[in-house]
Amino acid sequence: NGERPKEVDYSSENRGTRVRVLGRVHRERKQKDLCFVTLRDGYGYMQCVLAGPLARTYDAITLTRETSMMITGEMWEVPPGAHAPNNRELHADYFEIIGKAPGGDEAITNKVQEKGDPQTLLDMRHLLLRGETASSLMFVRDAVEFAFNAKYHELGYIKVAPPALVQTQVEGGSTLFGFNYYGENAYLTQSSQLYLETAIPFAGNVYCIEKSFRAEKSLTRRHLSEYTHVEAELDFINFDDLLVHLEDMICGVLEHVLANPRIAAMLQKLNPDFQMPERPFKRMRYSDAIDWLVENEIPNEEGEPHKFGDDIAEAAERRMTDIINRPIFLTHFPVEIKAFYMQKEKADPRVTESVDVLMPGVGEIVGGSMRMDNFDELMAAYKREGMDPSPYYWYTDVRKYGSSPHGGYGLGLERFLAWLCNQHTVRDTCLYPRYMGRCKP
Ligand code: 4AD
Ligand code: MG
Repeated sequence: NGERPKEVDYSSENRGTRVRVLGRVHRERKQKDLCFVTLRDGYGYMQCVLAGPLARTYDAITLTRETSMMITGEMWEVPPGAHAPNNRELHADYFEIIGKAPGGDEAITNKVQEKGDPQTLLDMRHLLLRGETASSLMFVRDAVEFAFNAKYHELGYIKVAPPALVQTQVEGGSTLFGFNYYGENAYLTQSSQLYLETAIPFAGNVYCIEKSFRAEKSLTRRHLSEYTHVEAELDFINFDDLLVHLEDMICGVLEHVLANPRIAAMLQKLNPDFQMPERPFKRMRYSDAIDWLVENEIPNEEGEPHKFGDDIAEAAERRMTDIINRPIFLTHFPVEIKAFYMQKEKADPRVTESVDVLMPGVGEIVGGSMRMDNFDELMAAYKREGMDPSPYYWYTDVRKYGSSPHGGYGLGLERFLAWLCNQHTVRDTCLYPRYMGRCKP
């Protein structure tokens, strides 16, 4: 009755078990007196055989892909040579069409996905998602999000739900989406970090998985306007604790995901060369990265050799990560190129206790730092950045009422998935991507 057939035992003693399955026609192949139907129900794929008189019915002869139907029959085990998913086949004795599909629509096949024009494919994404590759990415995504929740709870973190409608910026004014909030100016949140920091005093270590919004005015393969942000704040830690936690979290999530056989099989198909990252990750200070870029003749955005203080742009960052070809903790960025809230390094106050996690193929997947925990320093930081401190009064109060050394990070779920699943773009790792010029379907 639409229940997933998890509990059915298809071993040979059970040959002959009668079952009833509901799903959509993923593939169909008609022969003279046989009609093979691969039914899809989200849980998996089932090969069904309509034979003899059933194959000669009008409904079988005119059966089209994506039609939803019900089939009852006997489960048979079949040899691997039969190429039936899970080596089992449903020999139908009855079927009913539930919702007919028009047929002839090639946009839903994986083959077209490889060849098609990207804009048309994105317009048709609601149908493309029914394909094997697109849907397996959604299944892996679900498993990854579940694993993050499981890992945080294992560590005793509590999950909170910060607001999406806010009146403060986190990562600079240039990527804010503003809107009219009952006559007041408000924004879609860029990051839940500031709110997570306010949760520390009652919750201790805390996390959230929420949407973040960025009005990114460039079209790249790793920027979205709306993305899923996995963020955490850790209390009473130092910078090294933060890095060790990040390694443990990333590897712990991967282990959790790979322990699920169905997901592991999908990953094997999506990214056959995937290897578990080695711990510890490579640690590289920003200043060493600048030297590395100069030595390897990778120029900055102006085409000049990199110098201290330069932003390491997407292209250079990715080339460096691809050449080094392992996860990198890029640390200690200069104060000028980082956000207002970052703690300065004691030994060298030109730089911050900040970290980006870089992965081959994608580059930055995590941004994090220790937070400024001193009231006066934070006030000076607002001033330096030309920010009016008044809308941030609640954030400032974290430093006024029992401050603590704390830090945290944000991980872009779509970027993590692009790395894990070896995808060229984050547009394929979310259900319906949003980026400049696209707000449909
Ligand atoms: O480096 P970001 O901007 O850092 C923050 O927002 C911090 N406040 C997070 C924190 O410490 N709690 O963003 C963090 C991560 C990036 O490393 C990237 O993976 C992802 O968010 N990200 C994006 N993903 C897709 N599209 C975009 N436009 C993104 N901007 C950032
Ligand atoms: Mg960043």
